[in-house]
Amino acid sequence: MAVSTEIQAPRSGRIAPEYKRHGRSKGNFEMFAWLFMRLSGVVLVVLIFGHLFVNLMVGEGVHAIDFGFVGGKWADPFWQVWDLAMLWLAMLHGTNGVRTIINDYAEKDGTRMTLKTVLYLASAVVIVLGTLVIFTFDPCPAGAAADLLPSFCRA
Ligand code: HEM
Repeated sequence: MAVSTEIQAPRSGRIAPEYKRHGRSKGNFEMFAWLFMRLSGVVLVVLIFGHLFVNLMVGEGVHAIDFGFVGGKWADPFWQVWDLAMLWLAMLHGTNGVRTIINDYAEKDGTRMTLKTVLYLASAVVIVLGTLVIFTFDPCPAGAAADLLPSFCRA
């Protein structure tokens, strides 16, 4: 079976009458969402390339990455805030991007609702878990079995 690599035109130009949406969008939400994609994109370039440079190129580079490396970075509030900003902006940017794609291509109200519900739930789980990990991560938890702890904890 031949697989089509052609991307369909978004629904905006070819809405069948039964899929016409009702109601007008309220307020300036879509304008702010559009602006957010541009602004978060610019900030993400700095955050992501800074992250890649520090993790992969500085010092021993990629060879230095291990449990202790991550533990060391998250012991520093600067990297906690850096990683938090990267997590939140990438998730909100990616979620808003996929929200736009769903709005453009899912024609039935029910399909759009279902896909966006799954998207928002998945996004919320990742944001909450990721935020918790950044702020509660403890490489040497008190009371843990000694043979499960990394060597630097005993120092
Ligand atoms: C390197 C930094 C990034 C820049 C400069 C950037 C920039 C942009 C811009 C300007 C748009 C809007 C495009 C449009 O409205 O036509 C966009 C859309 C999008 N971005 Fe990013 N982005 C970046 C990183 C990311 C990341 C990390 C993710 C995933 C977590 C992501 C996922 C998306 C998605 C899903 C869309 C929607 C695509 C579409 O509408 O066709 N982007 N990006």
